[in-house]
Amino acid sequence: MPKIAVVGSINLDYVVETNVLPDAGETVLGQGYFFSHGGKGANQAVAASRLGADVFMFGSLGQDETGYSSKENLIHHDINIDHVQEITKAPSGVAFIEVCHSENRIIVVPGANEYTDTAYIKKVANELLAYDVIVFQLETPLEMLEYIIPILHEKGKTTIVNPAPAQRLSENLIEKTTYLTPNEYEYAIIFGIDSDQGSDKSSLNEEALQSFLIKHPNKLVVTCGSKGVCYSDGQDVIWVPPIQVDPVDSTGAGDTFSGAFAVGIAEGKSLYDSIQFANIAAGLSVMRRGAQSGMPTRAEVEQRAKEEVMKHEA
Ligand code: RIB
Ligand code: NA
Repeated sequence: MPKIAVVGSINLDYVVETNVLPDAGETVLGQGYFFSHGGKGANQAVAASRLGADVFMFGSLGQDETGYSSKENLIHHDINIDHVQEITKAPSGVAFIEVCHSENRIIVVPGANEYTDTAYIKKVANELLAYDVIVFQLETPLEMLEYIIPILHEKGKTTIVNPAPAQRLSENLIEKTTYLTPNEYEYAIIFGIDSDQGSDKSSLNEEALQSFLIKHPNKLVVTCGSKGVCYSDGQDVIWVPPIQVDPVDSTGAGDTFSGAFAVGIAEGKSLYDSIQFANIAAGLSVMRRGAQSGMPTRAEVEQRAKEEVMKHEA
């Protein structure tokens, strides 16, 4: 069993389902609501655990009901929480999510997640060396990643940074990270590309994307929704196709991708095969409501992988 550490956010999600989104000053009627466990860090940990990895969570929670129930939820998913710290100075993180026609809009209030900072990571730095793969996102302070990623790189560890929500990253951070998994919008922000340049945005973006992929071979893995996932092997740009699904709720699809990708890499699968495995897991997660509640098991991913092979042979 591969050992994976996830350093990241833990939130409670307040989800509203609606057929229309309100404009400023407007009131609309929604169709339903629910609460569910979320946070990009916790979601990626749950995705990896469902797929059979031995997962260790590193993060922060408040000393409140949300914090206690988030801990129980992680334990319920067989995730080790020995290193999750309890914060007295801030409440647990929360996310407000609107789901409209299977697409989501999210506002996160990080709270305790702000304390998954450099001081915290210094305390657990030695511990992190024990894992095959260490996964990060950007719902915790960026300075923490700037500090720890070069150290992990120096020690020869494999790291995955899912740069969401996107921020501009330093050259050093990009260079020292083993795999970066932005989506097609996040990638432009992490490299500081001005998306307003030029008149023909789509072709400009396509060209820019290609050149960034080729500049960062076998590192930069860009998820492009229904178009699939692309990376470069140093020579060519390679596209890994997605599976076809009827979308219900895309919340957590990116997290399912990252968690599953970490499992593939930790198991020693090739980059292509890890992406393919993650594509299937992410695709299946979109067919169900909620972030964590929609994530597939290993058996479900393997079953779908077999069906995909049969489809291509037919
Ligand atoms: O990626 C989805 C997640 O983003 C949600 O679970 C929410 O908590 C936010 O962190
Ligand atoms: Na989902």
